[in-house]
Amino acid sequence: MAAQLAILGGSPAVTVDAGERYKRPVEEEKKAVCELIDQGVLTGAGTGLPRQFEEEFKEFIGCKYVLTTDHGHTALASCYFAAGLGAGDEFIHPTIGYIGSYAGALHMGATPVFCEIDPKTLLADPADIEKRITPKTRVINPIHMCGRVCDMDALLDICRRHNLVLVEDAAHAHGSEWGGVKIGNLGHIAGFSCQGISPRGKPVAGGEAGIVCTNDRELYERALIYCHLHRVGALDELTNPVYKQLEPQLLGWKWRAHPLALAIARVSLKTLPERIEKFIANREELADKIRDIPGLELAHNYPKAKAAEIYGGLRFIYDPEALGGLSAKRFCEALNAEGVPMSPNGLGHIEHLRAIYTKDLPGLWGPGHPGPANIPLPRYKKGDFPVSESLVDRVLALPGWIEPAPGLIDQVALAIRKVVDNYRALL
Ligand SMILES: Cc1ncc(COP(=O)(O)O)c(C=O)c1O
Repeated sequence: MAAQLAILGGSPAVTVDAGERYKRPVEEEKKAVCELIDQGVLTGAGTGLPRQFEEEFKEFIGCKYVLTTDHGHTALASCYFAAGLGAGDEFIHPTIGYIGSYAGALHMGATPVFCEIDPKTLLADPADIEKRITPKTRVINPIHMCGRVCDMDALLDICRRHNLVLVEDAAHAHGSEWGGVKIGNLGHIAGFSCQGISPRGKPVAGGEAGIVCTNDRELYERALIYCHLHRVGALDELTNPVYKQLEPQLLGWKWRAHPLALAIARVSLKTLPERIEKFIANREELADKIRDIPGLELAHNYPKAKAAEIYGGLRFIYDPEALGGLSAKRFCEALNAEGVPMSPNGLGHIEHLRAIYTKDLPGLWGPGHPGPANIPLPRYKKGDFPVSESLVDRVLALPGWIEPAPGLIDQVALAIRKVVDNYRALL
């Protein structure tokens, strides 16, 4: 259908509000926060509200052990310690990843070994991971990016065969499932982030906080001794006779969550199931309406996955060749003019091209130190990860909606169709 594109002076296809209309229960958050202020409870772990949140999150995930932390990256750092990672060990992380995910491992002196992502799921590619295992590999650290679930069967099988620990980055994946089981209740140990605030923050958000989940008592106790200095009752909780000999300061890090953050996160947790169901229903409605449109497809989800996707939103794989070489940037500009908030920068960070792996940075780690814990960092260059690098200009991001304005999904689908049908006018 020939129609004048909005970017060329036509009328925008989207006429209703394209924003998120879901409103978080702010009054409930204020009440929860004020109760703690009134009680004078602004610190503490292993007791009171922090303990209550841990019990509630445990029930939600269905796992045996939950430990709250002050951030997602400290939750993950505690997971690496729990896994026994140390200086000189290797861990495998997708190059389309996040330094905050593996900073804990990096600063211990463990060596990041990056792997490719799968071009359809945009998640760590299990076959590529397996090729990169060496005698030094100890941990695999995939990311359930934007709540899309990695191939847990393949990853757990690799870990079993090579005797590795799966440290899942579940920063975006609260409520995501694999085969009907929630992330955090399947692998060895998982770290969640509670950064931001609903609806665009992490699925369970409280400003800044993190959560460790595991079904393994030993991993739980190791995470706890690493980062919960002065947790109430910690020494009584510990069963490992070695860890029980520690003082109440444990190993000294005080990465406990702030009770005020957990008070807000508790409110967020209550609304999560409803937000996920609504988001998925809207995603599926949009997916059905654009399935036949050439040049654009939603990132694939594995059949066993239930992807929450409420943090970071939807990812599309764009094929410029299907639209006469139209760049992702120009395609998105045309969509933006139609009223669709699609961004061309959907891929994320490229880890192997960070300055620390590609540049000479004398003195960065201290005089005479070649890298963290005196271990040199690996060197990488452009071209080392051709599959992941080829996706740089091909992944688009759309926030998705929990509660869209009536008619919005229809209009977004029509807008995408309009731009694709008229792409020649943009060349
Ligand atoms: C993939 C991923 N991993 C880990 C983290 C770290 O979480 P936090 O910001 O709570 O430390 C984030 C934060 O955005 C993230 O996106």
